[in-house]
Amino acid sequence: MTDTMLSSHLARFPFPFREDTYRYSTNVEPARQFVPTEAGGWGEHVLDLDATYEAELTERERILRRDPSRCTVLPHMRVATWDALLTVLGELAATYPGQMSLHRDGTTYRWRNDLLGVKQEFVLGEEDSLPCDPLLFAGSQAQEDIVLLDQREDALWADAGLVTFAADWSLGFDVGMRFLEIHGPVPRVHEERVITRAERFLMRLEAGQEYRRTNWTMTVDRRLDTSTETYPEWGRDRRLVVTDPALPDRLHLRVEVQHLLRLPRSGAILFLIRTYLLSLTDLARVPAWRSRFASVLAELPDDLTEYKGLSHYRDAAAHWLAGG
Ligand code: HEM
Repeated sequence: MTDTMLSSHLARFPFPFREDTYRYSTNVEPARQFVPTEAGGWGEHVLDLDATYEAELTERERILRRDPSRCTVLPHMRVATWDALLTVLGELAATYPGQMSLHRDGTTYRWRNDLLGVKQEFVLGEEDSLPCDPLLFAGSQAQEDIVLLDQREDALWADAGLVTFAADWSLGFDVGMRFLEIHGPVPRVHEERVITRAERFLMRLEAGQEYRRTNWTMTVDRRLDTSTETYPEWGRDRRLVVTDPALPDRLHLRVEVQHLLRLPRSGAILFLIRTYLLSLTDLARVPAWRSRFASVLAELPDDLTEYKGLSHYRDAAAHWLAGG
């Protein structure tokens, strides 16, 4: 990364910790609010493109070629995928009006994305008018991963998605599951009713309401695809990195900015996950982040550390950040 890229990366990085300790909570807040940080700030838009835009879309294409199950749509979710496509393209056009536009003429839409040199005309609901599934097309224009939740039987069901950058889970495994079931492996949240409260909150979302939350973990190297399916490729690095002198360059804080929107036509919930990675070396350029993350890691309870997959290197990372 060049120095200019690094400073813009730091300036926009959504550093997630507002205190020196971390526990799970429902932590939702209205979308589109700018959050100032010690290095700059983030959060004024729902979708975010940055200098890694083309590289990440190329990586997404590569992952999908290898494993098409990363985009899975249950049959009753077709309408919701078109709804998601119009929302994603409309949002991109509104955020980047100089480079992108979406024009409507009856049921025909014209999409232009000058950043990728894409021009596409399509007819709403006609699958043949697009080169691929509507979710795949949305995911070829936006950096975010996408999950669609259906609401029925007084519950939410993750019934469609395009997820190439999962943090230690699998869309193929989770698709068709209820929200509560998906969160089954997460420690503490069930006793503390975090997940039932979140589901109640989401089921009350009205069309046009937009919320967001952050989540975090750590990843060895700039690896976006840490899906369960590719665990054999990245799992052992968690163990081996601890003895590598390059540990601060290899270990990354991984932050997800997650948006939650009720779609207007299908009534489905659109869950967008944008993943940001920052190495400890780069994070340490902001002294307040360095000391805060050192404290968070050192204090993180063992069950959360274990669930997040940090057990092998948590102490080493906290020690390095603390200047040891
Ligand atoms: C994991 C909370 C929305 C899918 C988690 C974790 C928490 C959480 C605390 C553990 C994360 C970690 O330590 O790294 C919430 C809350 C939500 C929400 C409070 C809404 C307000 C969603 C939605 C989906 C989702 C809409 C879409 C299906 C997942 C998955 C995992 C996860 C797949 C990983 C579970 C595993 O280990 O297999 N969530 N979540 N979450 N969440 Fe959510």
